[in-house]
Amino acid sequence: MAQIIDGKAVSAAIKEQVRDEIARDNIKAGLAVVIVGNDPASRVYVNNKKKACEFCGIKSFEYALPEETTMEQLLELIDTLNADKNVNGILVQLPLPKQLDEKAVIERISPKKDVDAFHETNVGKIMIGNYSFLPCTPAGCMELIHSTGVSVAGKECVVIGRSNIVGKPMAMLLLHENGTVTVCHSKTKNLAEVCRRADILVAAVGKPNFVTADMVKEGAVVIDVGINRLENGKLCGDVKFDEVSEKASFITPVPGGVGPMTIATLMKNTLTAAKIQNNE
Ligand code: GUN
Repeated sequence: MAQIIDGKAVSAAIKEQVRDEIARDNIKAGLAVVIVGNDPASRVYVNNKKKACEFCGIKSFEYALPEETTMEQLLELIDTLNADKNVNGILVQLPLPKQLDEKAVIERISPKKDVDAFHETNVGKIMIGNYSFLPCTPAGCMELIHSTGVSVAGKECVVIGRSNIVGKPMAMLLLHENGTVTVCHSKTKNLAEVCRRADILVAAVGKPNFVTADMVKEGAVVIDVGINRLENGKLCGDVKFDEVSEKASFITPVPGGVGPMTIATLMKNTLTAAKIQNNE
């Protein structure tokens, strides 16, 4: 039976560190969160971000724009936030309504304030290992792996999913720690066989219960990035928890695993952004 990795506890410890550093050094930090439209899941995330800011002593600025917002309006807001000295981090909650060009929006955010690390400049910096921020969810997954005491170096690591937000940067972070990394996706042949090689398996597919016990090696560390809402309203990960937890050595639950880590890393990134900007 696997040990359950407690994302809530790990994230609480990170938020406490951020809070203590801000208080100790009297750091002024501000995060602007922009949400467009009425996606209920996005609303929940944004509220959680606000609460975490309050806890850490980070000033939070929230901009809730209507569904029919135009590119011009959104880019104008980003320009204003880029120029605002009280705002150290800018996060535009994704997904955006379809009339808005996500890529152009992300590229408009000043890379120094891009606490999601989605901007091309930051993605490039991560690729060569010279970065200020790491993307929140993959960095959170790395913290959870570290919390197990299992070293990544030399391990077979398999990431299922190749999104720009999770899969690709996750692979890069595992590589930075000297893992042997395979990225699987919808065209991968013999997926179960590839996954069974993994000492560290990261599922970021977006399909409930996708990873079954036959895809998991005995003793693997399993990190479940999925947050899927079932018809009965319950949250469920990408991993079939009941059976996979019988085989894994460590496993993250959903909820209470990777989810809380994303916000903790965001707080850490906002503090980093504030320190850099306050020293300029
Ligand atoms: N939507 C879901 N996760 C994220 C995230 O980490 N950042 C942003 N901006 N939008 C998201």
